[in-house]
Amino acid sequence: MRFSGSERSQAHGRWYRTVAEHFDHLYDSGRVTRAYPFLHDLFRRRAPVLDVLDVACGTFALDLPLLRRSYRVTGRDVSKEMLRIARRRLEESGRSADLGQADMRTLRLDREFDAILCLGTAFNYLAKAIDIRRALRGFRGHVRKDGLLVLDLTNFDAWIRNPQNARAEVDYRAPDGMRIAVFGFNEQDLTRSIHLARFLTVVQTGRGIDIRFDEAPLRIWTKDSLTTALQGNGFKPVEWWGDLRLGARYDRRRSPRLVSVSTRA
Ligand SMILES: C[S@@+](CC[C@H](N)C(=O)[O-])C[C@H]1O[C@@H](n2cnc3c(N)ncnc32)[C@H](O)[C@@H]1O
Repeated sequence: MRFSGSERSQAHGRWYRTVAEHFDHLYDSGRVTRAYPFLHDLFRRRAPVLDVLDVACGTFALDLPLLRRSYRVTGRDVSKEMLRIARRRLEESGRSADLGQADMRTLRLDREFDAILCLGTAFNYLAKAIDIRRALRGFRGHVRKDGLLVLDLTNFDAWIRNPQNARAEVDYRAPDGMRIAVFGFNEQDLTRSIHLARFLTVVQTGRGIDIRFDEAPLRIWTKDSLTTALQGNGFKPVEWWGDLRLGARYDRRRSPRLVSVSTRA
Protein backbone atom coordinates (compact mmCIF):
# COMPACT_ATOMS: atom_id res chain seq x y z
CA MET A 1 0.00 0.00 0.00
CA ARG A 2 1.38 3.39 -0.98
CA PHE A 3 0.28 6.92 -0.13
CA SER A 4 0.72 8.44 -3.59
CA GLY A 5 0.14 12.06 -2.77
CA SER A 6 -1.88 14.84 -1.33
CA GLU A 7 -2.82 18.10 -2.97
CA ARG A 8 -4.67 21.22 -2.00
CA SER A 9 -5.26 23.01 -5.26
CA GLN A 10 -7.59 25.15 -7.28
CA ALA A 11 -8.87 22.46 -9.57
CA HIS A 12 -8.03 18.91 -8.49
CA GLY A 13 -5.27 18.95 -11.15
CA ARG A 14 -3.42 15.85 -9.92
CA TRP A 15 -6.62 14.04 -9.18
CA TYR A 16 -7.61 14.30 -12.85
CA ARG A 17 -4.18 12.90 -13.70
CA THR A 18 -4.96 9.85 -11.58
CA VAL A 19 -8.49 9.20 -12.84
CA ALA A 20 -8.47 10.63 -16.41
CA GLU A 21 -8.37 7.22 -18.08
CA HIS A 22 -11.52 6.10 -16.25
CA PHE A 23 -13.24 9.45 -15.65
CA ASP A 24 -16.21 8.83 -17.98
CA HIS A 25 -17.14 5.63 -16.10
CA LEU A 26 -16.82 6.98 -12.58
CA TYR A 27 -19.92 9.13 -12.38
CA ASP A 28 -23.36 9.17 -14.04
CA SER A 29 -22.71 7.42 -17.37
CA GLY A 30 -26.18 8.33 -18.78
CA ARG A 31 -25.19 11.97 -18.73
CA VAL A 32 -23.57 11.92 -22.17
CA THR A 33 -26.69 10.39 -23.76
CA ARG A 34 -28.94 12.98 -22.09
CA ALA A 35 -26.78 16.02 -22.84
CA TYR A 36 -26.80 15.81 -26.64
CA PRO A 37 -30.62 16.18 -27.11
CA PHE A 38 -30.57 19.04 -24.60
CA LEU A 39 -27.77 20.91 -26.38
CA HIS A 40 -29.05 20.20 -29.88
CA ASP A 41 -32.53 21.43 -28.95
CA LEU A 42 -31.07 24.56 -27.38
CA PHE A 43 -28.85 25.28 -30.41
CA ARG A 44 -31.76 24.75 -32.80
CA ARG A 45 -34.04 27.08 -30.86
CA ARG A 46 -31.35 29.73 -30.66
CA ALA A 47 -29.98 29.23 -34.19
CA PRO A 48 -27.70 29.71 -35.90
CA VAL A 49 -25.26 27.73 -33.76
CA LEU A 50 -22.58 25.83 -35.61
CA ASP A 51 -19.23 26.82 -34.10
CA VAL A 52 -18.94 25.75 -30.46
CA LEU A 53 -16.10 26.22 -27.97
CA ASP A 54 -15.96 23.95 -24.91
CA VAL A 55 -13.60 25.68 -22.46
CA ALA A 56 -13.14 22.75 -20.02
CA CYS A 57 -13.83 19.87 -22.36
CA GLY A 58 -12.31 17.13 -20.19
CA THR A 59 -12.39 13.84 -22.13
CA PHE A 60 -14.53 15.47 -24.90
CA ALA A 61 -17.29 12.95 -24.09
CA LEU A 62 -20.09 15.54 -24.26
CA ASP A 63 -18.66 17.09 -27.43
CA LEU A 64 -18.26 14.01 -29.63
CA PRO A 65 -22.04 13.60 -30.20
CA LEU A 66 -22.15 17.25 -31.34
CA LEU A 67 -19.23 16.68 -33.67
CA ARG A 68 -20.94 13.61 -35.15
CA ARG A 69 -23.98 15.77 -35.95
CA SER A 70 -21.97 18.32 -37.93
CA TYR A 71 -21.32 20.94 -35.28
CA ARG A 72 -17.77 22.28 -35.31
CA VAL A 73 -16.43 21.89 -31.78
CA THR A 74 -13.21 23.33 -30.41
CA GLY A 75 -12.02 21.97 -27.06
CA ARG A 76 -9.74 23.45 -24.45
CA ASP A 77 -8.82 22.07 -21.03
CA VAL A 78 -6.12 22.82 -18.50
CA SER A 79 -5.36 19.12 -17.85
CA LYS A 80 -2.92 17.39 -20.22
CA GLU A 81 -4.15 13.99 -19.05
CA MET A 82 -7.82 14.74 -19.77
CA LEU A 83 -6.75 16.06 -23.21
CA ARG A 84 -4.76 12.89 -23.89
CA ILE A 85 -7.97 10.88 -23.42
CA ALA A 86 -9.94 13.45 -25.45
CA ARG A 87 -7.48 13.11 -28.37
CA ARG A 88 -7.70 9.35 -28.26
CA ARG A 89 -11.52 9.44 -28.27
CA LEU A 90 -11.46 11.91 -31.15
CA GLU A 91 -9.15 9.70 -33.19
CA GLU A 92 -11.33 6.65 -32.51
CA SER A 93 -14.38 8.62 -33.71
CA GLY A 94 -12.74 9.35 -37.05
CA ARG A 95 -13.60 13.06 -36.75
CA SER A 96 -11.33 16.04 -36.42
CA ALA A 97 -11.43 18.96 -34.04
CA ASP A 98 -9.12 21.62 -32.64
CA LEU A 99 -8.13 20.42 -29.15
CA GLY A 100 -5.56 22.17 -27.00
CA GLN A 101 -4.39 23.01 -23.53
CA ALA A 102 -5.60 26.31 -22.09
CA ASP A 103 -6.78 27.80 -18.85
CA MET A 104 -10.30 29.20 -19.11
CA ARG A 105 -9.12 32.28 -17.21
CA THR A 106 -6.71 33.24 -19.98
CA LEU A 107 -8.27 32.12 -23.26
CA ARG A 108 -6.74 33.48 -26.44
CA LEU A 109 -8.18 31.99 -29.60
CA ASP A 110 -8.53 35.23 -31.60
CA ARG A 111 -11.94 34.32 -32.94
CA GLU A 112 -15.59 34.26 -31.98
CA PHE A 113 -17.89 31.26 -31.60
CA ASP A 114 -21.67 30.87 -31.78
CA ALA A 115 -21.71 29.20 -28.36
CA ILE A 116 -19.39 28.59 -25.42
CA LEU A 117 -19.86 25.58 -23.15
CA CYS A 118 -18.47 25.20 -19.65
CA LEU A 119 -19.95 21.96 -18.34
CA GLY A 120 -19.66 19.46 -15.52
CA THR A 121 -18.92 21.77 -12.56
CA ALA A 122 -15.77 23.16 -14.25
CA PHE A 123 -16.89 26.78 -13.67
CA ASN A 124 -17.32 26.03 -9.93
CA TYR A 125 -13.55 25.52 -9.81
CA LEU A 126 -13.10 29.26 -10.20
CA ALA A 127 -13.41 30.22 -6.56
CA LYS A 128 -11.84 33.71 -6.50
CA ALA A 129 -13.68 36.82 -7.72
CA ILE A 130 -10.77 37.85 -9.95
CA ASP A 131 -10.68 34.44 -11.68
CA ILE A 132 -14.43 34.50 -12.26
CA ARG A 133 -14.20 37.98 -13.78
CA ARG A 134 -11.27 37.03 -16.00
CA ALA A 135 -13.02 33.91 -17.24
CA LEU A 136 -16.34 35.63 -17.96
CA ARG A 137 -14.60 38.49 -19.78
CA GLY A 138 -12.61 35.96 -21.76
CA PHE A 139 -15.80 34.08 -22.65
CA ARG A 140 -17.40 37.34 -23.74
CA GLY A 141 -14.45 38.07 -26.04
CA HIS A 142 -14.85 34.67 -27.71
CA VAL A 143 -18.60 34.61 -28.40
CA ARG A 144 -20.36 36.55 -31.15
CA LYS A 145 -23.05 39.09 -30.37
CA ASP A 146 -26.25 37.26 -29.32
CA GLY A 147 -24.21 34.04 -29.12
CA LEU A 148 -24.66 31.66 -26.16
CA LEU A 149 -22.85 30.86 -22.95
CA VAL A 150 -23.96 27.60 -21.29
CA LEU A 151 -22.77 27.00 -17.71
CA ASP A 152 -23.54 23.66 -16.07
CA LEU A 153 -22.89 23.95 -12.33
CA THR A 154 -23.48 21.87 -9.25
CA ASN A 155 -26.71 23.06 -7.62
CA PHE A 156 -25.36 23.59 -4.14
CA ASP A 157 -28.72 24.97 -2.93
CA ALA A 158 -30.08 21.42 -3.04
CA TRP A 159 -26.86 20.03 -1.59
CA ILE A 160 -26.86 22.41 1.37
CA ARG A 161 -30.48 21.62 2.23
CA ASN A 162 -29.78 17.91 2.06
CA PRO A 163 -26.16 17.56 3.16
CA GLN A 164 -24.28 14.77 1.43
CA ASN A 165 -20.97 15.69 2.93
CA ALA A 166 -19.63 12.30 3.90
CA ARG A 167 -20.28 9.70 1.25
CA ALA A 168 -18.83 6.90 -0.81
CA GLU A 169 -18.99 8.40 -4.30
CA VAL A 170 -17.44 5.81 -6.55
CA ASP A 171 -16.81 2.07 -6.50
CA TYR A 172 -15.63 1.22 -10.01
CA ARG A 173 -14.04 -1.89 -11.45
CA ALA A 174 -12.36 -1.42 -14.84
CA PRO A 175 -12.45 -4.25 -17.42
CA ASP A 176 -8.74 -4.86 -16.74
CA GLY A 177 -9.49 -5.50 -13.04
CA MET A 178 -8.26 -2.15 -11.76
CA ARG A 179 -10.50 -0.78 -8.99
CA ILE A 180 -11.15 2.84 -8.10
CA ALA A 181 -12.99 3.90 -4.96
CA VAL A 182 -13.62 7.56 -4.13
CA PHE A 183 -14.80 8.75 -0.73
CA GLY A 184 -15.94 12.34 -0.43
CA PHE A 185 -15.99 14.32 2.76
CA ASN A 186 -16.90 17.90 2.04
CA GLU A 187 -17.64 21.06 3.93
CA GLN A 188 -19.39 24.33 3.08
CA ASP A 189 -18.31 27.77 4.20
CA LEU A 190 -21.50 29.68 3.49
CA THR A 191 -20.13 33.07 4.51
CA ARG A 192 -17.48 32.77 1.76
CA SER A 193 -19.75 30.86 -0.68
CA ILE A 194 -17.19 28.07 -0.81
CA HIS A 195 -17.72 24.31 -0.92
CA LEU A 196 -14.54 22.45 0.04
CA ALA A 197 -14.50 19.31 -2.10
CA ARG A 198 -12.33 16.65 -0.51
CA PHE A 199 -11.65 13.23 -1.96
CA LEU A 200 -9.86 10.20 -0.69
CA THR A 201 -9.13 8.16 -3.80
CA VAL A 202 -8.07 4.53 -3.56
CA VAL A 203 -6.74 2.84 -6.69
CA GLN A 204 -6.04 -0.87 -6.66
CA THR A 205 -3.95 -2.32 -9.49
CA GLY A 206 -3.18 -6.00 -9.02
CA ARG A 207 -2.01 -6.33 -5.43
CA GLY A 208 -0.87 -2.70 -5.18
CA ILE A 209 -3.01 -0.04 -3.57
CA ASP A 210 -2.42 3.71 -4.02
CA ILE A 211 -4.22 6.16 -1.79
CA ARG A 212 -4.32 9.88 -2.36
CA PHE A 213 -6.04 12.84 -0.76
CA ASP A 214 -7.13 15.93 -2.69
CA GLU A 215 -8.96 19.05 -1.68
CA ALA A 216 -10.22 21.96 -3.79
CA PRO A 217 -12.42 24.96 -3.07
CA LEU A 218 -15.48 25.17 -5.33
CA ARG A 219 -17.60 28.28 -5.70
CA ILE A 220 -21.18 27.96 -4.48
CA TRP A 221 -23.46 29.64 -7.04
CA THR A 222 -27.13 30.41 -6.68
CA LYS A 223 -29.39 31.62 -9.45
CA ASP A 224 -29.24 35.15 -7.98
CA SER A 225 -25.47 35.35 -7.52
CA LEU A 226 -24.87 33.92 -10.97
CA THR A 227 -27.30 36.38 -12.55
CA THR A 228 -25.38 39.25 -10.98
CA ALA A 229 -22.01 37.90 -12.16
CA LEU A 230 -23.26 37.25 -15.70
CA GLN A 231 -24.94 40.63 -16.05
CA GLY A 232 -21.87 42.41 -14.69
CA ASN A 233 -19.74 40.81 -17.38
CA GLY A 234 -21.81 41.41 -20.49
CA PHE A 235 -24.16 38.39 -20.52
CA LYS A 236 -27.93 38.23 -20.23
CA PRO A 237 -29.33 35.03 -18.63
CA VAL A 238 -32.22 33.80 -20.78
CA GLU A 239 -32.88 30.22 -19.61
CA TRP A 240 -32.39 28.16 -16.44
CA TRP A 241 -32.49 24.37 -16.27
CA GLY A 242 -32.10 21.80 -13.51
CA ASP A 243 -29.91 19.38 -15.50
CA LEU A 244 -28.38 18.89 -18.94
CA ARG A 245 -31.53 17.02 -19.90
CA LEU A 246 -34.46 17.98 -22.13
CA GLY A 247 -37.26 19.52 -20.05
CA ALA A 248 -35.41 19.40 -16.68
CA ARG A 249 -37.03 22.35 -14.91
CA TYR A 250 -34.84 24.12 -12.40
CA ASP A 251 -35.97 23.60 -8.81
CA ARG A 252 -33.68 25.32 -6.33
CA ARG A 253 -34.30 22.72 -3.64
CA ARG A 254 -34.15 19.55 -5.70
CA SER A 255 -32.36 19.92 -9.02
CA PRO A 256 -28.98 18.23 -9.21
CA ARG A 257 -27.60 20.93 -11.52
CA LEU A 258 -27.89 24.66 -12.03
CA VAL A 259 -27.69 25.19 -15.79
CA SER A 260 -27.74 28.73 -17.09
CA VAL A 261 -28.03 29.79 -20.72
CA SER A 262 -27.04 33.40 -21.42
CA THR A 263 -26.69 35.50 -24.52
CA ARG A 264 -23.92 37.97 -25.14
CA ALA A 265 -25.42 41.38 -24.57
C1 LIG B 1 -15.55 17.58 -13.79
S1 LIG B 1 -14.53 17.79 -15.21
C2 LIG B 1 -15.75 18.12 -16.46
C3 LIG B 1 -15.26 17.84 -17.86
C4 LIG B 1 -16.31 18.06 -18.96
N1 LIG B 1 -16.68 19.45 -19.08
C5 LIG B 1 -17.53 17.23 -18.68
O1 LIG B 1 -18.57 17.80 -18.31
O2 LIG B 1 -17.46 15.98 -18.79
C6 LIG B 1 -13.83 19.40 -14.94
C7 LIG B 1 -12.80 19.76 -16.00
O3 LIG B 1 -12.45 21.13 -15.83
C8 LIG B 1 -11.09 21.26 -16.13
N2 LIG B 1 -10.63 22.53 -15.56
C9 LIG B 1 -10.58 22.88 -14.24
N3 LIG B 1 -10.12 24.14 -14.13
C10 LIG B 1 -9.90 24.60 -15.40
C11 LIG B 1 -9.43 25.84 -15.92
N4 LIG B 1 -9.09 26.85 -15.12
N5 LIG B 1 -9.34 25.98 -17.27
C12 LIG B 1 -9.68 24.94 -18.10
N6 LIG B 1 -10.11 23.74 -17.65
C13 LIG B 1 -10.24 23.57 -16.31
C14 LIG B 1 -10.46 20.01 -15.50
O4 LIG B 1 -9.18 19.74 -16.01
C15 LIG B 1 -11.50 18.96 -15.90
O5 LIG B 1 -11.20 18.38 -17.15
